[in-house]
Parts: sequence; structure tokens; C-alpha cells
Amino acid sequence: MSAASRILNPALRSKIMSAEEAAALIPSGVNVGMSGFTGAGYPKAVPSALAKRIMDANLNGHKFRIGVWTGASTAPELDGALAMVDGIEMRLPYQSDPTCRKRINAGEMEYIDIHLSHVAQFVWGGFLGPLDVAVVEVAGVLEDGRLIPSSSVGNNKTWLDEADKVILEVNSWQNPALEGMHDIYYGTALPPLRKPIPILKSDDRIGDAYYRIDPKKIIAVVETDKADRNSPFSPPDVNSQKIAGHILDFLQHEVRKGRLPANLLPLQSGVGNVANAVMAGLQDGPFQNLTAYTEVLQDGMLELIKSGKLRCASATSFSLSPTALAELNADLPRFKDSIILRPQEISNHPEVIRRLGIIAMNGLIEADIYGNVNSTHIGGSAIMNGIGGSGDFARNAFISIFMTPSTAKGGNLSCIVPMVTHVDHTEHDVQIIVTEQGLADLRGLAPKQRAHTIIERCAHPNFRPALREYFDRAQRYATGKHTPHLLDEAFSFLPNWMARQQGR
Ligand code: COA
Repeated sequence: MSAASRILNPALRSKIMSAEEAAALIPSGVNVGMSGFTGAGYPKAVPSALAKRIMDANLNGHKFRIGVWTGASTAPELDGALAMVDGIEMRLPYQSDPTCRKRINAGEMEYIDIHLSHVAQFVWGGFLGPLDVAVVEVAGVLEDGRLIPSSSVGNNKTWLDEADKVILEVNSWQNPALEGMHDIYYGTALPPLRKPIPILKSDDRIGDAYYRIDPKKIIAVVETDKADRNSPFSPPDVNSQKIAGHILDFLQHEVRKGRLPANLLPLQSGVGNVANAVMAGLQDGPFQNLTAYTEVLQDGMLELIKSGKLRCASATSFSLSPTALAELNADLPRFKDSIILRPQEISNHPEVIRRLGIIAMNGLIEADIYGNVNSTHIGGSAIMNGIGGSGDFARNAFISIFMTPSTAKGGNLSCIVPMVTHVDHTEHDVQIIVTEQGLADLRGLAPKQRAHTIIERCAHPNFRPALREYFDRAQRYATGKHTPHLLDEAFSFLPNWMARQQGR
């Protein structure tokens, strides 16, 4: 089916133009809300055409930069292309593109890292300035002008509502059977007009299958036929398998204790290979009739749906490997009853997460001995990706799990440190820390008990003696004995210790 045959509204058919013509409608200095979430559903043609236009402007000595707002990370054709030509003045809310990261850390691009559930309300409240243009990929346009969402929803509803002008990309590569899979809720508002979000179960549908839009705002329609960026997952390595094993043992223990039902509570699983390995572990585990209320749907969850172990998954985006995507697309109608894609202010809504009692599992860069977690920064200053939805889930989950290998950089750095160099999740939001070494259950523990548990259960044996020594001395010499620290060495301790080990 061609893109044109997916545009059933006659008025919109008359607005079809090339990506270059559409990109020419975006001036320098504006904020652009683009679709896209973890490599799914991003516009495939206009951003690259815009990047070309920016490059030409730069060559002619005109600075051309825009603000880029998305759902989350996108793809080389969007973040990569625009960052390459230095065309992004300000980026939000989550990115994982290497060129963007380089520019942000070089001080050449501003980056606002906000909770994914907060983006829509920041825009509604006008805190981020005007949203001038939206560029949104859809899978089709109905005769009455309503839009069929594509493989991610993210912030698209907000972009379409709030932008002054809208450019649509209609992508005929997207599976037409996506129609009906989405749940676009139009009941959100700013305080004091807020009402409860009426989701009581992961698979409750509370909205429409389509986006609504004022057709007068649509200034261009571009036809595309391009695949989403889908990265393959590495097969689970030994450490990921061990981490998954510890989490599965823990969940079974919680069921035996009567603290979790036999089919657990809705699962949220963060991005990446470790998260995918945990889902793969559930495949062989004893749990049946599982549910998920999460942000992205990765391969592992799809496998669980296929095997019948996962009854339903609510998310805001797919994030599948090419193989898993091909399998999904070959049989999409079969998954219609078990997968729902929602706007990210709903998939990550603190009220819903708290009510459903989510089991949240997210990655980290470093955790400290008291349980504070850094998910975003290397060495306290350089951004890696961003907080994404991890804060939305961690603070409001019934059980908040953070997982990581115990060491990084070939074993040279400990991911368990005396004091994190940047805090994303405080000790109050972190209940369980898991490494390949073991699992620390921090619930009900006071700070010094937490420190003892984290060091003994999670730290790598090569770093454990140094952490013990730090903690012992901190207890003896720190001025405060509640959360004892030696501030003059909290950050330099491990490198110094490593240097001492190497005889320097
Ligand atoms: N010190 C220095 N570097 C470290 C480190 C540490 N303690 N721990 C990890 N790193 C580096 C790794 O070496 C790697 O760098 P490289 O890409 O140059 O090799 C990088 O950080 C990523 O680490 P990796 O082990 O590959 O982890 P990952 O892919 O599981 O990602 C996060 C971990 C924390 C970066 C990732 O989970 C993330 O971005 N989280 C925040 C957003 C989030 O949680 N989203 C989900 C919510 S639904």
C-alpha cells in the first residue's frame, strides 16, 4: 500500500509535498516537537532534509539552529543528522545519540533532562516556551482527518495539540494493522482541573485509537516508506544472566512470603541488554499470566507474549530488534488484544504506577553504599543518556529495582562507590540493588545497615575491601554517624585505591 493511499482525507491529500519543501517551512530559532521514542515512530525524511538546509545555511554564514523536543531517543536520521550539522540549540527530554552526547558534553548544545511523564505538562504550562512546529510520523489518515498513530506514541498527542503548525509524515512501511492498538487519552489537564486517570488494570483502555487534529494547522504532508531504526540485542552475557537469576529468585521469594501474587504485579523493564535478559529469564521461570505496564516493549516481552506467559503489555513504544520486529509485523493482528500503546504522560503516570503497584527494573551507572543511584552521568559531569522514565517508575513503584554489572570499563571501575558523583534516584526511591554478585534488599534498613548490605552483597570482590575500609573509617572519623562519609575522599577514594593497588 502506498503512503498516498493511506491519506484518505481529501484536504490533506492536497497538502502532499516533498520532504525538502516541508523542511523549508521550518525557520531558524523555532522549537520543533518531533515524534519518536527509542528508535520507533520518528519522522524519517523531514529532519534529514532540514539538516541539509541547515548545512547550506551554515556554509553561507547564517547560523540556523532549532530546539528539538521528542518523546525520547530517536535515530541517526533525526538526532544524528541535526547534531552533525550543529543544528540543535536545545534538546529534550532523553537522547542516546553519540553525536548529540558529544556536543552536549562539549558545551555546544543545551540539554534539559526531565522525567518523561513531566514533558507534556511542562509544555501545557508554557514552561519551555512556544511549540512552533510539530513533525509527526503517522501510519495513516482517516477520511475524517483523524490520524492513525505509528510504532510509538510518546508526546505526539501533546505536539499535535500544542504546536502552531504541523507537518505529517505518512509512512507506508508502518504496518496498517497498527490501527486499533493505541489508546490516546484526551482527559488530562493541569491543576486544579485534574481528574483521576481511570486505569485500574494494565490492559484498561480509556481513550481513542486515533489522534485528533485541527486540519487547519497541517501545513504539509510528506509520504515516506522507511523502516524504524531497530537495533539488535546482544545475547544475554554471563553477568546479565546472573543478574536476571538473582531477580527471579527474589521475585519467587516475595511470592512465597505472600508479598506478591503468584502472577506478580505489572512489570516495568528499562532499556538495554540487562533488562532484556531479565525478560528472557522470566520465560523459563515459574510465573504465568504476567502483565506489564511499562515504557518500551523489547524483544523479551514480545517473547513472553508469544509463549502465553505475558497476558498483556501496556507501553508507549516498541523497541524491538529487526528479527523480533519482522515476527511482530508478520502476525500483528494476533497481538492486538495483548499490546496497548499510550501517550507517555499516561504510560509513565505516577498516579497509575502507584495504583497498579509496578515492579520497576532499571539500569544504573553507579550506586553508592547508602543506596543513592546515578543513572545519567559519568564522572559527575558528562551526560550519558538521560533519566528517561526511570524516575517516574522508581519513585512510584511497589518494588523499585536497580541493576548493573558490579564493575565497568573492563573491571577497572567499581559501579558501587562510596558516594555517587551525581544523584538521579535518592536512597528513598531505591529498594533493591542487584549486580551479578548478588541482590541487596534495602527495604526497612537504616543507612549503615544499607551500606553493609550493599558492600557485602553487590560490590565486586576486587573492590569490596576498599569499600569496607572506607565505611569503617567513615564510621570512626565522620562528624555525623547517621550516614557517615569522609567528604575529602568520597570521590577520589576508588581511583586512589586503584593507584595504590598498582603501586603508584
Ligand atoms: N563509570 C563509568 N562508566 C560507566 C559506569 C561507571 N560506573 N557504568 C557504566 N559505564 C559506561 C559503560 O562503560 C558504557 O560505556 P560505553 O558505551 O562507552 O561502553 C555505558 O556507561 C553504558 O553502560 P552499559 O553497561 O552498556 O549499560 P546499559 O546499556 O545497561 O545502560 C544506563 C545503563 C544507566 C546508561 C541506561 O540504563 C540508561 O540510560 N538509564 C537511564 C534511563 C532509563 O533508565 N530508562 C528506562 C526507563 S523506562
